[in-house]
Amino acid sequence: MKESPTDDIKIGVITASWAEMHNISCDYHKSTTSTNDLAKDDAFNGLDAIQLYVTDEQTQGRGRGNNTWIAPAAGSSLLSSWSFQSPVTPSPYITSLIGLGLFNAARATWPFLNWNLKAPNDLYIDDKKIAGLLVETVTQGNQHRIIVGLGLNVFAHPKLPMATDLFAEMSKGKFPGVMGSDWIKFLDRLLFEICALIPEANLEPDETLQASMLAIFNMHPKLASKYSDFKTLKEDLWR
Ligand code: BTN
Repeated sequence: MKESPTDDIKIGVITASWAEMHNISCDYHKSTTSTNDLAKDDAFNGLDAIQLYVTDEQTQGRGRGNNTWIAPAAGSSLLSSWSFQSPVTPSPYITSLIGLGLFNAARATWPFLNWNLKAPNDLYIDDKKIAGLLVETVTQGNQHRIIVGLGLNVFAHPKLPMATDLFAEMSKGKFPGVMGSDWIKFLDRLLFEICALIPEANLEPDETLQASMLAIFNMHPKLASKYSDFKTLKEDLWR
């Protein structure tokens, strides 16, 4: 197989180092079934308020519904679950709000790429999917945890016609490198975005947030027709 200069970079390993640097408790595995399953099994085992699970390979990666999540070569994509203690009962809106947080983090880090979101929370560049979120909430008595499963194609993507990865998109535009400080900046911003949502995870989005959601979901190039108002978007988000 053709060698690439990024072959020795393992996204799981560098993400685990980022977590260590920030004193965020992180469970790294070279290979596991599914980081969301690890997070769910562990949810009420006396975790810190934030706990991260990362791996370089999943054998049973799950997507939304009955979908599976297929990742290319080990270490070439971010396979992660971010487990947050929630002081409130999370509302179903949280799934899409986290999508918005992911969009904000990606756009702030790589503003020259044409990011958009497809309802309820798939991250795209142009008309190609680059990341998926599987947000699951677990409850025991009055304790809640929000588990944010994030798969992001970084150096490679599955051989699907509508998929892409960050490296491929950056290479098109001869943009600067994907890794190094960019990756740190992205993870910092993602954590900031999600942390800001957690304390109010039970609330309906306010008018400003509704307008942002409408604008961002309407950017998706493959939308059959634009969402006219938040009510129409909401119906799609909860389908
Ligand atoms: C989707 O697009 O349907 C959601 C995909 C979510 C995939 C991530 S990869 C890390 C985490 N562990 C899983 O089993 N799934 C999520």
